[in-house]
Amino acid sequence: MRIYLDHAATTPLLPGAGEAWQVAARTVGNASATHSWGREARRITEESRERIAAALGAHSGEVVFTSGATEADNLAVLGMAEARRQADPQLNRVLISAVEHPAVRLGAAELAARGFEVTELPVDSQGLLRLGVLSDALRRNPKGIALLSCLWVNNEMGAIAPIPEIAALADSYGIPLHSDAVQAVGLPSITFAAATLPGLSGLSISAHKIGGPMGIGALLIRRDAPIVPLTYGGGQERRIRSGTVPVALIAAFAAALDEVVLKRELQYESLRQLRNTLSDGLTALGANVIGPAHPNHQAPHILYAIFPGVSAETLLMLLDQAGIAASAGSACSAGVIQPSETLLAMGYTPQDALSGVRFSLGWTNTPTDITTLLQLLPDLLTRASSV
Ligand SMILES: Cc1ncc(COP(=O)(O)O)c(C=O)c1O
Repeated sequence: MRIYLDHAATTPLLPGAGEAWQVAARTVGNASATHSWGREARRITEESRERIAAALGAHSGEVVFTSGATEADNLAVLGMAEARRQADPQLNRVLISAVEHPAVRLGAAELAARGFEVTELPVDSQGLLRLGVLSDALRRNPKGIALLSCLWVNNEMGAIAPIPEIAALADSYGIPLHSDAVQAVGLPSITFAAATLPGLSGLSISAHKIGGPMGIGALLIRRDAPIVPLTYGGGQERRIRSGTVPVALIAAFAAALDEVVLKRELQYESLRQLRNTLSDGLTALGANVIGPAHPNHQAPHILYAIFPGVSAETLLMLLDQAGIAASAGSACSAGVIQPSETLLAMGYTPQDALSGVRFSLGWTNTPTDITTLLQLLPDLLTRASSV
């Protein structure tokens, strides 16, 4: 038996994406070359770029390919803040939410080392950045803000931030907003359309979280948004991200995104039902399912549960032995399990955080996966709490 419940870490490749990769991988040629081979590689790249842009309501000129979302987040946070400070040395403050992915949080830490003042905006016990918190912070000290970065969907709890409202608020202060939307692509409401969200300047996405291959992602960035590159070379991707573009990965990324967007409403509903069943079952077993209760604020593919008195590390090992993949909300650093920063920011104790498991659902899951998990869990929980 194999049940994969770690889709937020990476999602199995969609067959259509694999096929698109195979076809494009046969193309010989560097998309920057002027001969016919190069032109063919460029055609595939540009058609894929247009499909990716269209899927997210963006303009194709706004898509900058990167190696994944870590690079997209770094590029946005460092590149945008540095560009703003270069234009005006007074712009030396950066605001981020307290539950950012390390790709943003540590990018901001690097900015702090370079002399920026970085402020983490607190979240509530559901993991949500409340609009009032942001508006108070902006009203108190609106000056010198180079950038605001806020995760769209939290990768540990699945809390959905009110990005449209945050973007409008940031825009009213003339502050560019970047959002890591890696876990938000399955939301029917997500868009990068300038007409809908003029205050949103940058958006990070990653292919392997949506059924595409690993090693490709994108930063969607407005054409007039200030940004400096982090790497220097051949000047590809509007000189923002030099390096030969990986044509086959890009073709597969476009195929995956097309499929996700096409099936988004149906998938959203079926994941929501699976999550509800799982949530009810876990609660009945004494687990504390955390995060927003309201479906408008909770992504359907992520469920984080604290099992009081249980070692998450042991439970994950037992689940793995039983053929079930899930993950801890805790990061493993230098061989030591650390309590999740996100959970601590939400007001939970380190002990809670070490008893927490994230189940994340995706296109391969069926209702049987959930019932099987719920049948196995009572025994595994007993074994994980007795050690
Ligand atoms: C919210 C979020 N941002 C960024 C990343 C990093 O993405 P990538 O693996 O494409 O570098 C992840 C993946 O764990 C994520 O969940």
